[in-house]
Amino acid sequence: MSDRVRIFDTTLRDGEQSPGATMNLQEKLRLAHQLEVLGVDCIEAGFPASSQGDFESVQAIAGLVKNSEIAGLARCTRGDIDRVWEAIRHAAQPRIHTFLATSPIHMEYKLRKSPEQVVEMAVEGVKRAAGYTPNVEFSAEDASRSNPDFLVRVVTEVIKAGATTINLPDTVGYAIPSEYSKLIRYVIEHTPNADKAVFSVHCHDDLGLSVANSLAAVEAGARQVEVTLCGIGERAGNTSLEEVVMALKVRRDVFGVDTSIRTEQLFPSCRMLSMIIGQPIPANKAVVGGNAFAHESGIHQDGMLKNRETYEIMTPQSIGRTSSDLVIGKHSGRNAVRNKLDALGYASLEEEQFETVFNAIKALADKKKAIHDEDIEALIMGEVYRQTDRYKLLTISVQSSTPSMPAMAAVALQDGDKVLRQAGFGVGPVDAAFNVIASALGVEPHLERYVVNAITGGTDAQGEVTVRITDGAISSSGRGSDPDIIVASARAYVDALNRLHAKLHDERQC
Ligand code: KIV
Ligand code: ZN
Repeated sequence: MSDRVRIFDTTLRDGEQSPGATMNLQEKLRLAHQLEVLGVDCIEAGFPASSQGDFESVQAIAGLVKNSEIAGLARCTRGDIDRVWEAIRHAAQPRIHTFLATSPIHMEYKLRKSPEQVVEMAVEGVKRAAGYTPNVEFSAEDASRSNPDFLVRVVTEVIKAGATTINLPDTVGYAIPSEYSKLIRYVIEHTPNADKAVFSVHCHDDLGLSVANSLAAVEAGARQVEVTLCGIGERAGNTSLEEVVMALKVRRDVFGVDTSIRTEQLFPSCRMLSMIIGQPIPANKAVVGGNAFAHESGIHQDGMLKNRETYEIMTPQSIGRTSSDLVIGKHSGRNAVRNKLDALGYASLEEEQFETVFNAIKALADKKKAIHDEDIEALIMGEVYRQTDRYKLLTISVQSSTPSMPAMAAVALQDGDKVLRQAGFGVGPVDAAFNVIASALGVEPHLERYVVNAITGGTDAQGEVTVRITDGAISSSGRGSDPDIIVASARAYVDALNRLHAKLHDERQC
Protein backbone atom coordinates (compact mmCIF):
# COMPACT_ATOMS: atom_id res chain seq x y z
CA MET A 1 0.00 0.00 0.00
CA SER A 2 1.24 3.50 -0.87
CA ASP A 3 2.65 5.54 1.97
CA ARG A 4 1.36 8.82 0.53
CA VAL A 5 -1.98 10.27 1.55
CA ARG A 6 -3.52 12.53 -1.06
CA ILE A 7 -5.08 15.78 0.16
CA PHE A 8 -8.34 16.63 -1.60
CA ASP A 9 -9.45 20.12 -0.66
CA THR A 10 -13.15 20.99 -0.85
CA THR A 11 -13.04 24.47 0.76
CA LEU A 12 -14.37 25.96 -2.48
CA ARG A 13 -17.25 23.45 -2.72
CA ASP A 14 -18.38 21.89 0.59
CA GLY A 15 -16.74 24.72 2.56
CA GLU A 16 -18.29 27.45 0.48
CA GLN A 17 -21.73 25.90 1.12
CA SER A 18 -21.48 26.77 4.82
CA PRO A 19 -23.41 29.75 6.21
CA GLY A 20 -21.65 33.05 5.58
CA ALA A 21 -18.72 31.57 3.62
CA THR A 22 -19.73 32.75 0.17
CA MET A 23 -16.87 34.02 -1.98
CA ASN A 24 -16.89 36.03 -5.16
CA LEU A 25 -15.00 34.94 -8.29
CA GLN A 26 -11.86 36.91 -7.53
CA GLU A 27 -11.74 35.56 -3.99
CA LYS A 28 -12.17 31.98 -5.22
CA LEU A 29 -9.34 32.44 -7.70
CA ARG A 30 -7.09 33.88 -5.04
CA LEU A 31 -7.82 30.99 -2.67
CA ALA A 32 -7.42 28.38 -5.42
CA HIS A 33 -3.99 29.83 -6.20
CA GLN A 34 -3.07 29.64 -2.51
CA LEU A 35 -4.28 26.01 -2.30
CA GLU A 36 -1.99 25.21 -5.22
CA VAL A 37 0.91 26.92 -3.41
CA LEU A 38 -0.01 24.94 -0.28
CA GLY A 39 0.44 21.80 -2.36
CA VAL A 40 -2.99 20.12 -2.24
CA ASP A 41 -3.31 17.23 -4.68
CA CYS A 42 -6.83 18.08 -5.79
CA ILE A 43 -8.97 21.21 -5.51
CA GLU A 44 -12.71 20.64 -5.66
CA ALA A 45 -13.60 23.96 -7.24
CA GLY A 46 -17.40 23.80 -7.08
CA PHE A 47 -20.63 22.20 -8.24
CA PRO A 48 -21.08 23.54 -11.79
CA ALA A 49 -24.69 22.40 -12.24
CA SER A 50 -25.80 24.24 -9.10
CA SER A 51 -25.62 27.75 -10.60
CA GLN A 52 -24.19 29.75 -13.47
CA GLY A 53 -21.91 31.51 -10.98
CA ASP A 54 -20.50 28.18 -9.76
CA PHE A 55 -20.00 26.99 -13.33
CA GLU A 56 -18.05 30.12 -14.21
CA SER A 57 -15.86 30.00 -11.14
CA VAL A 58 -15.00 26.32 -11.68
CA GLN A 59 -14.15 27.13 -15.29
CA ALA A 60 -11.94 30.08 -14.27
CA ILE A 61 -10.13 28.03 -11.61
CA ALA A 62 -9.60 25.22 -14.14
CA GLY A 63 -7.91 27.76 -16.41
CA LEU A 64 -5.67 29.10 -13.65
CA VAL A 65 -4.35 26.13 -11.65
CA LYS A 66 -1.67 23.90 -13.15
CA ASN A 67 -0.13 21.88 -10.32
CA SER A 68 -3.23 20.53 -8.56
CA GLU A 69 -6.04 18.48 -10.07
CA ILE A 70 -9.30 20.38 -10.48
CA ALA A 71 -12.48 18.50 -9.59
CA GLY A 72 -16.06 19.52 -10.23
CA LEU A 73 -18.94 17.85 -8.37
CA ALA A 74 -21.85 16.22 -10.19
CA ARG A 75 -24.89 14.19 -9.19
CA CYS A 76 -25.02 10.89 -11.05
CA THR A 77 -26.94 12.36 -13.97
CA ARG A 78 -25.96 13.02 -17.55
CA GLY A 79 -26.74 16.72 -17.26
CA ASP A 80 -24.58 17.28 -14.18
CA ILE A 81 -21.67 15.23 -15.49
CA ASP A 82 -21.69 16.97 -18.87
CA ARG A 83 -21.79 20.33 -17.13
CA VAL A 84 -18.76 19.47 -14.98
CA TRP A 85 -16.82 18.39 -18.04
CA GLU A 86 -17.71 21.61 -19.83
CA ALA A 87 -16.34 23.57 -16.85
CA ILE A 88 -13.09 21.63 -16.29
CA ARG A 89 -12.16 20.33 -19.72
CA HIS A 90 -9.31 22.83 -20.10
CA ALA A 91 -7.79 22.12 -16.70
CA ALA A 92 -4.22 20.77 -16.72
CA GLN A 93 -5.44 17.84 -14.59
CA PRO A 94 -9.26 17.53 -14.65
CA ARG A 95 -11.28 15.22 -12.39
CA ILE A 96 -15.00 14.46 -12.46
CA HIS A 97 -16.41 13.76 -9.00
CA THR A 98 -19.82 12.14 -9.11
CA PHE A 99 -21.90 11.02 -6.13
CA LEU A 100 -24.96 8.96 -5.31
CA ALA A 101 -26.42 7.98 -1.94
CA THR A 102 -26.22 4.33 -0.87
CA SER A 103 -27.82 4.31 2.59
CA PRO A 104 -31.33 2.81 3.01
CA ILE A 105 -32.75 6.10 4.32
CA HIS A 106 -31.37 8.18 1.42
CA MET A 107 -32.31 5.62 -1.24
CA GLU A 108 -35.87 5.28 0.04
CA TYR A 109 -36.78 8.84 1.00
CA LYS A 110 -34.47 11.12 -0.95
CA LEU A 111 -33.84 9.25 -4.18
CA ARG A 112 -36.97 7.04 -4.14
CA LYS A 113 -34.91 4.35 -5.87
CA SER A 114 -34.36 0.69 -5.16
CA PRO A 115 -30.83 -0.60 -4.43
CA GLU A 116 -30.82 -2.17 -7.95
CA GLN A 117 -31.64 1.17 -9.54
CA VAL A 118 -28.93 2.88 -7.48
CA VAL A 119 -26.27 0.43 -8.71
CA GLU A 120 -27.44 0.99 -12.27
CA MET A 121 -27.40 4.79 -11.95
CA ALA A 122 -23.96 4.76 -10.33
CA VAL A 123 -22.51 2.63 -13.11
CA GLU A 124 -24.14 4.75 -15.83
CA GLY A 125 -22.85 7.96 -14.26
CA VAL A 126 -19.30 6.70 -13.85
CA LYS A 127 -19.27 5.35 -17.43
CA ARG A 128 -20.36 8.70 -18.75
CA ALA A 129 -17.69 10.51 -16.72
CA ALA A 130 -15.01 7.99 -17.75
CA GLY A 131 -15.89 8.72 -21.38
CA TYR A 132 -14.55 12.23 -20.76
CA THR A 133 -11.54 11.58 -18.52
CA PRO A 134 -9.77 8.65 -16.89
CA ASN A 135 -9.73 10.63 -13.60
CA VAL A 136 -13.13 9.82 -12.07
CA GLU A 137 -14.10 9.85 -8.40
CA PHE A 138 -17.25 8.18 -7.16
CA SER A 139 -18.71 9.02 -3.73
CA ALA A 140 -21.20 6.71 -2.03
CA GLU A 141 -23.03 9.43 -0.15
CA ASP A 142 -23.95 8.51 3.46
CA ALA A 143 -21.62 5.50 3.24
CA SER A 144 -21.25 5.33 7.02
CA ARG A 145 -24.98 4.49 7.33
CA SER A 146 -24.97 2.12 4.34
CA ASN A 147 -24.96 -1.67 4.40
CA PRO A 148 -21.28 -2.72 4.08
CA ASP A 149 -22.05 -5.54 1.63
CA PHE A 150 -24.15 -3.23 -0.53
CA LEU A 151 -21.25 -0.77 -0.51
CA VAL A 152 -18.89 -3.54 -1.67
CA ARG A 153 -21.27 -4.29 -4.51
CA VAL A 154 -21.58 -0.66 -5.65
CA VAL A 155 -17.84 -0.04 -5.29
CA THR A 156 -16.93 -3.18 -7.29
CA GLU A 157 -19.27 -2.14 -10.11
CA VAL A 158 -18.18 1.51 -10.30
CA ILE A 159 -14.50 0.53 -10.37
CA LYS A 160 -15.33 -1.79 -13.29
CA ALA A 161 -17.09 1.17 -14.94
CA GLY A 162 -13.97 3.35 -14.66
CA ALA A 163 -13.85 5.01 -11.22
CA THR A 164 -10.28 5.48 -10.01
CA THR A 165 -11.06 7.05 -6.64
CA ILE A 166 -13.71 5.69 -4.30
CA ASN A 167 -14.92 7.97 -1.56
CA LEU A 168 -16.86 6.60 1.41
CA PRO A 169 -18.19 9.68 3.24
CA ASP A 170 -19.52 10.06 6.72
CA THR A 171 -21.98 12.56 5.28
CA VAL A 172 -23.93 13.24 8.47
CA GLY A 173 -21.03 13.08 10.95
CA TYR A 174 -22.51 10.02 12.65
CA ALA A 175 -19.61 7.56 12.70
CA ILE A 176 -17.15 6.98 15.51
CA PRO A 177 -13.50 6.18 14.75
CA SER A 178 -13.46 2.43 15.59
CA GLU A 179 -16.60 1.80 13.56
CA TYR A 180 -15.54 3.95 10.60
CA SER A 181 -12.10 2.34 10.29
CA LYS A 182 -13.79 -1.08 10.43
CA LEU A 183 -16.06 -0.09 7.54
CA ILE A 184 -13.22 1.25 5.40
CA ARG A 185 -11.10 -1.86 6.04
CA TYR A 186 -14.07 -4.15 5.29
CA VAL A 187 -14.86 -2.49 1.97
CA ILE A 188 -11.22 -2.49 0.86
CA GLU A 189 -10.72 -6.14 1.83
CA HIS A 190 -13.94 -7.40 0.25
CA THR A 191 -13.82 -5.46 -3.03
CA PRO A 192 -12.12 -7.79 -5.54
CA ASN A 193 -10.80 -4.91 -7.71
CA ALA A 194 -9.91 -2.58 -4.79
CA ASP A 195 -6.31 -2.37 -6.01
CA LYS A 196 -7.51 -0.40 -9.07
CA ALA A 197 -8.69 2.58 -7.01
CA VAL A 198 -7.57 4.94 -4.28
CA PHE A 199 -9.91 4.85 -1.27
CA SER A 200 -10.93 8.22 0.08
CA VAL A 201 -12.76 9.54 3.14
CA HIS A 202 -14.86 12.66 3.62
CA CYS A 203 -16.11 13.35 7.13
CA HIS A 204 -18.40 15.91 8.70
CA ASP A 205 -17.96 17.24 12.20
CA ASP A 206 -21.46 16.93 13.71
CA LEU A 207 -20.08 15.04 16.73
CA GLY A 208 -16.68 16.74 16.64
CA LEU A 209 -15.11 13.52 15.29
CA SER A 210 -14.31 14.34 11.67
CA VAL A 211 -10.52 14.55 12.14
CA ALA A 212 -10.45 11.46 14.39
CA ASN A 213 -12.57 9.51 11.88
CA SER A 214 -10.38 10.57 8.94
CA LEU A 215 -7.21 9.52 10.76
CA ALA A 216 -8.76 6.19 11.76
CA ALA A 217 -9.62 5.65 8.10
CA VAL A 218 -6.01 6.32 7.08
CA GLU A 219 -4.94 3.60 9.52
CA ALA A 220 -7.44 1.30 7.80
CA GLY A 221 -6.02 1.99 4.33
CA ALA A 222 -7.65 5.17 3.02
CA ARG A 223 -5.15 7.09 0.89
CA GLN A 224 -7.10 10.25 0.16
CA VAL A 225 -8.59 12.56 2.79
CA GLU A 226 -11.16 15.22 1.85
CA VAL A 227 -10.75 18.37 3.89
CA THR A 228 -11.36 22.10 4.10
CA LEU A 229 -9.26 24.94 5.49
CA CYS A 230 -10.21 25.61 9.12
CA GLY A 231 -12.78 22.80 8.76
CA ILE A 232 -15.45 25.10 7.27
CA GLY A 233 -18.40 23.32 5.70
CA GLU A 234 -22.00 22.16 5.92
CA ARG A 235 -23.51 22.33 9.42
CA ALA A 236 -20.68 21.73 11.95
CA GLY A 237 -18.16 21.66 9.12
CA ASN A 238 -15.79 19.24 7.38
CA THR A 239 -12.48 17.69 8.38
CA SER A 240 -9.91 20.40 8.95
CA LEU A 241 -7.01 20.27 6.49
CA GLU A 242 -4.43 21.74 8.85
CA GLU A 243 -5.35 19.36 11.69
CA VAL A 244 -5.16 16.19 9.59
CA VAL A 245 -1.94 17.23 7.88
CA MET A 246 -0.18 18.14 11.12
CA ALA A 247 -1.44 15.00 12.89
CA LEU A 248 -0.01 12.87 10.09
CA LYS A 249 3.25 14.79 10.22
CA VAL A 250 3.72 15.07 13.98
CA ARG A 251 2.67 11.44 14.53
CA ARG A 252 4.44 9.96 11.54
CA ASP A 253 5.70 7.33 13.98
CA VAL A 254 2.12 6.01 14.17
CA PHE A 255 0.78 6.57 10.65
CA GLY A 256 3.94 6.10 8.57
CA VAL A 257 2.57 8.23 5.71
CA ASP A 258 3.40 11.55 4.05
CA THR A 259 1.41 14.26 2.29
CA SER A 260 2.47 16.74 -0.36
CA ILE A 261 1.51 19.74 1.80
CA ARG A 262 4.01 22.56 2.38
CA THR A 263 3.12 22.91 6.02
CA GLU A 264 4.67 26.36 6.34
CA GLN A 265 1.85 27.54 4.05
CA LEU A 266 -0.85 26.31 6.47
CA PHE A 267 -1.16 29.45 8.58
CA PRO A 268 -1.08 31.88 5.60
CA SER A 269 -3.74 29.75 3.86
CA CYS A 270 -6.10 29.65 6.85
CA ARG A 271 -5.54 33.32 7.52
CA MET A 272 -6.33 34.12 3.89
CA LEU A 273 -9.56 32.14 4.08
CA SER A 274 -10.55 33.92 7.27
CA MET A 275 -9.91 37.32 5.68
CA ILE A 276 -11.87 36.39 2.58
CA ILE A 277 -14.98 35.04 4.28
CA GLY A 278 -14.91 37.57 7.09
CA GLN A 279 -14.89 35.01 9.88
CA PRO A 280 -12.12 35.15 12.48
CA ILE A 281 -10.16 31.98 13.34
CA PRO A 282 -11.21 31.00 16.90
CA ALA A 283 -8.36 31.60 19.37
CA ASN A 284 -8.43 28.00 20.59
CA LYS A 285 -8.53 26.45 17.10
CA ALA A 286 -6.04 23.57 16.87
CA VAL A 287 -2.87 24.31 14.87
CA VAL A 288 -3.79 27.81 13.59
CA GLY A 289 -5.69 29.51 16.46
CA GLY A 290 -4.22 32.59 18.13
CA ASN A 291 -3.56 30.64 21.34
CA ALA A 292 -2.21 27.46 19.72
CA PHE A 293 1.37 28.41 20.61
CA ALA A 294 0.68 30.71 23.57
CA HIS A 295 1.85 29.53 26.98
CA GLU A 296 0.17 31.32 29.83
CA SER A 297 0.64 29.21 32.96
CA GLY A 298 3.81 29.76 34.98
CA ILE A 299 4.68 26.06 35.03
CA HIS A 300 4.35 25.84 31.25
CA GLN A 301 6.39 28.98 30.69
CA ASP A 302 9.11 27.65 32.95
CA GLY A 303 9.15 24.33 31.03
CA MET A 304 9.25 26.14 27.68
CA LEU A 305 12.22 28.22 28.75
CA LYS A 306 14.12 25.09 29.76
CA ASN A 307 13.19 23.08 26.66
CA ARG A 308 10.46 24.02 24.14
CA GLU A 309 9.53 20.38 23.64
CA THR A 310 8.23 20.16 27.21
CA TYR A 311 5.02 21.82 26.03
CA GLU A 312 5.31 22.21 22.24
CA ILE A 313 4.81 19.25 19.90
CA MET A 314 5.37 21.31 16.75
CA THR A 315 6.97 24.68 16.11
CA PRO A 316 5.05 27.80 15.01
CA GLN A 317 7.53 28.03 12.10
CA SER A 318 6.52 24.58 10.83
CA ILE A 319 3.01 25.89 10.07
CA GLY A 320 4.24 29.23 8.73
CA ARG A 321 3.69 31.30 11.80
CA THR A 322 6.78 33.44 11.72
CA SER A 323 7.23 36.71 13.48
CA SER A 324 9.12 38.45 10.75
CA ASP A 325 11.66 40.99 11.96
CA LEU A 326 11.07 43.21 8.94
CA VAL A 327 9.00 46.05 10.39
CA ILE A 328 6.96 48.05 7.94
CA GLY A 329 6.30 51.70 8.76
CA LYS A 330 6.08 55.20 7.38
CA HIS A 331 9.60 55.18 5.95
CA SER A 332 9.56 51.75 4.33
CA GLY A 333 10.30 51.77 0.64
CA ARG A 334 8.89 49.66 -2.18
CA ASN A 335 11.56 47.00 -1.77
CA ALA A 336 10.84 46.44 1.90
CA VAL A 337 7.11 46.27 1.24
CA ARG A 338 7.63 43.87 -1.65
CA ASN A 339 9.78 41.61 0.56
CA LYS A 340 7.14 41.65 3.24
CA LEU A 341 4.39 40.79 0.75
CA ASP A 342 6.50 37.89 -0.57
CA ALA A 343 6.98 36.59 2.99
CA LEU A 344 3.23 36.76 3.55
CA GLY A 345 2.51 34.72 0.43
CA TYR A 346 1.51 37.58 -1.90
CA ALA A 347 4.41 37.33 -4.34
CA SER A 348 2.08 37.15 -7.32
CA LEU A 349 0.45 40.59 -7.02
CA GLU A 350 0.42 42.44 -10.33
CA GLU A 351 2.24 45.78 -10.56
CA GLU A 352 -0.97 47.80 -10.35
CA GLN A 353 -2.20 45.78 -7.36
CA PHE A 354 1.17 46.22 -5.66
CA GLU A 355 0.95 50.01 -6.11
CA THR A 356 -2.57 50.03 -4.62
CA VAL A 357 -1.37 48.07 -1.57
CA PHE A 358 1.78 50.18 -1.25
CA ASN A 359 -0.22 53.42 -1.22
CA ALA A 360 -2.72 51.98 1.26
CA ILE A 361 0.14 50.95 3.57
CA LYS A 362 1.57 54.46 3.37
CA ALA A 363 -1.82 55.97 4.19
CA LEU A 364 -2.21 53.63 7.17
CA ALA A 365 1.34 54.39 8.34
CA ASP A 366 0.34 58.05 8.62
CA LYS A 367 -2.30 57.07 11.18
CA LYS A 368 -0.49 54.25 12.98
CA LYS A 369 3.15 53.74 14.03
CA ALA A 370 3.82 50.04 13.56
CA ILE A 371 2.22 48.15 10.69
CA HIS A 372 1.78 44.47 11.55
CA ASP A 373 1.44 41.51 9.19
CA GLU A 374 -2.27 41.31 9.98
CA ASP A 375 -2.71 44.98 9.07
CA ILE A 376 -1.13 44.32 5.69
CA GLU A 377 -3.25 41.26 5.04
CA ALA A 378 -6.35 43.25 5.93
CA LEU A 379 -5.33 45.98 3.46
CA ILE A 380 -4.68 43.47 0.67
CA MET A 381 -8.06 41.88 1.16
CA GLY A 382 -9.77 45.25 1.29
CA GLU A 383 -7.92 47.00 -1.51
CA VAL A 384 -7.10 44.25 -4.00
CA TYR A 385 -9.56 41.41 -3.72
CA ARG A 386 -12.83 43.23 -3.20
CA GLN A 387 -12.81 45.52 -6.21
CA THR A 388 -15.81 44.13 -8.04
CA ASP A 389 -18.25 45.01 -5.28
CA ARG A 390 -21.44 46.82 -6.11
CA TYR A 391 -21.41 49.10 -3.04
CA LYS A 392 -18.46 51.12 -1.83
CA LEU A 393 -18.19 53.24 1.30
CA LEU A 394 -16.81 56.64 0.30
CA THR A 395 -16.98 58.66 3.52
CA ILE A 396 -18.61 58.38 6.89
CA SER A 397 -18.90 60.82 9.76
CA VAL A 398 -20.47 59.86 13.07
CA GLN A 399 -21.24 61.94 16.13
CA SER A 400 -21.58 59.98 19.35
CA SER A 401 -24.63 60.24 21.56
CA THR A 402 -25.14 61.79 24.99
CA PRO A 403 -28.06 60.62 27.20
CA SER A 404 -30.36 63.29 25.77
CA MET A 405 -29.25 63.12 22.12
CA PRO A 406 -29.18 60.12 19.74
CA ALA A 407 -26.01 59.40 17.75
CA MET A 408 -25.91 60.91 14.27
CA ALA A 409 -24.26 59.58 11.12
CA ALA A 410 -23.75 60.89 7.59
CA VAL A 411 -22.45 58.72 4.75
CA ALA A 412 -21.55 58.89 1.10
CA LEU A 413 -21.74 55.57 -0.72
CA GLN A 414 -21.21 54.46 -4.27
CA ASP A 415 -23.80 52.13 -5.76
CA GLY A 416 -22.53 51.21 -9.23
CA ASP A 417 -21.92 54.61 -10.83
CA LYS A 418 -24.30 56.55 -8.53
CA VAL A 419 -23.12 58.41 -5.45
CA LEU A 420 -25.67 58.33 -2.62
CA ARG A 421 -25.63 60.56 0.46
CA GLN A 422 -27.69 60.10 3.57
CA ALA A 423 -27.82 61.25 7.20
CA GLY A 424 -29.73 59.80 10.12
CA PHE A 425 -29.79 58.71 13.73
CA GLY A 426 -29.32 55.64 15.90
CA VAL A 427 -29.18 54.62 19.54
CA GLY A 428 -25.37 54.55 19.37
CA PRO A 429 -22.71 55.36 16.75
CA VAL A 430 -22.65 51.89 15.18
CA ASP A 431 -26.43 51.72 15.06
CA ALA A 432 -26.54 55.17 13.44
CA ALA A 433 -23.91 54.17 10.86
CA PHE A 434 -25.75 50.96 9.92
CA ASN A 435 -29.13 52.72 9.76
CA VAL A 436 -27.97 55.37 7.32
CA ILE A 437 -26.09 52.89 5.13
CA ALA A 438 -29.15 50.63 4.90
CA SER A 439 -31.50 53.51 4.20
CA ALA A 440 -29.18 55.06 1.57
CA LEU A 441 -29.06 51.73 -0.28
CA GLY A 442 -32.75 50.98 0.24
CA VAL A 443 -32.13 47.63 1.96
CA GLU A 444 -33.38 46.26 5.27
CA PRO A 445 -31.27 43.29 6.30
CA HIS A 446 -31.47 41.83 9.79
CA LEU A 447 -28.25 42.20 11.79
CA GLU A 448 -27.52 38.84 13.40
CA ARG A 449 -24.02 39.20 14.76
CA TYR A 450 -21.59 42.04 15.43
CA VAL A 451 -18.08 41.21 16.73
CA VAL A 452 -15.14 43.57 17.28
CA ASN A 453 -11.52 42.37 17.63
CA ALA A 454 -8.29 44.33 17.90
CA ILE A 455 -6.10 42.80 15.16
CA THR A 456 -2.93 43.85 16.92
CA GLY A 457 -2.13 45.23 20.37
CA GLY A 458 -2.04 48.89 21.49
CA THR A 459 -4.53 51.74 21.38
CA ASP A 460 -3.62 52.41 17.74
CA ALA A 461 -4.46 48.81 16.79
CA GLN A 462 -6.54 48.17 13.70
CA GLY A 463 -10.05 47.24 14.79
CA GLU A 464 -11.39 44.22 12.92
CA VAL A 465 -15.17 44.01 12.81
CA THR A 466 -17.18 41.02 11.64
CA VAL A 467 -20.92 41.28 11.01
CA ARG A 468 -23.46 38.75 9.91
CA ILE A 469 -26.71 39.81 8.26
CA THR A 470 -29.69 37.95 6.85
CA ASP A 471 -32.38 38.61 4.29
CA GLY A 472 -35.01 35.88 4.62
CA ALA A 473 -33.19 32.56 4.35
CA ILE A 474 -30.04 34.08 2.88
CA SER A 475 -27.23 35.18 5.14
CA SER A 476 -23.79 36.66 4.67
CA SER A 477 -20.82 37.78 6.74
CA GLY A 478 -18.65 40.80 6.18
CA ARG A 479 -15.40 42.04 7.60
CA GLY A 480 -13.85 45.46 7.84
CA SER A 481 -10.76 46.87 9.46
CA ASP A 482 -9.58 50.36 10.30
CA PRO A 483 -7.91 52.07 13.25
CA ASP A 484 -11.30 53.82 13.77
CA ILE A 485 -13.73 51.22 15.03
CA ILE A 486 -16.81 52.98 13.58
CA VAL A 487 -15.22 53.10 10.13
CA ALA A 488 -14.27 49.40 10.49
CA SER A 489 -17.91 48.65 11.43
CA ALA A 490 -19.26 50.54 8.43
CA ARG A 491 -16.82 48.74 6.12
CA ALA A 492 -17.82 45.37 7.54
CA TYR A 493 -21.49 46.19 7.06
CA VAL A 494 -20.99 47.31 3.45
CA ASP A 495 -18.87 44.18 2.83
CA ALA A 496 -21.69 41.98 4.17
CA LEU A 497 -24.22 43.86 2.00
CA ASN A 498 -22.05 43.23 -1.08
CA ARG A 499 -21.87 39.52 -0.31
CA LEU A 500 -25.60 39.38 0.36
CA HIS A 501 -26.27 41.16 -2.91
CA ALA A 502 -24.01 38.68 -4.78
CA LYS A 503 -25.76 35.73 -3.14
CA LEU A 504 -29.27 36.98 -3.90
CA HIS A 505 -28.17 37.62 -7.48
CA ASP A 506 -26.75 34.08 -7.74
CA GLU A 507 -29.95 32.59 -6.23
CA ARG A 508 -32.06 34.31 -8.88
CA GLN A 509 -29.91 32.81 -11.63
CA CYS A 510 -30.45 29.24 -10.38
O1 KIV B 1 -20.81 14.93 2.60
C1 KIV B 1 -20.87 14.32 1.52
O2 KIV B 1 -21.26 13.14 1.44
C2 KIV B 1 -20.49 15.04 0.32
C3 KIV B 1 -20.41 14.26 -0.94
C4 KIV B 1 -20.99 14.98 -2.08
C5 KIV B 1 -19.00 13.84 -1.17
O3 KIV B 1 -20.18 16.21 0.38
ZN1 ZN C 1 -19.68 16.77 2.48
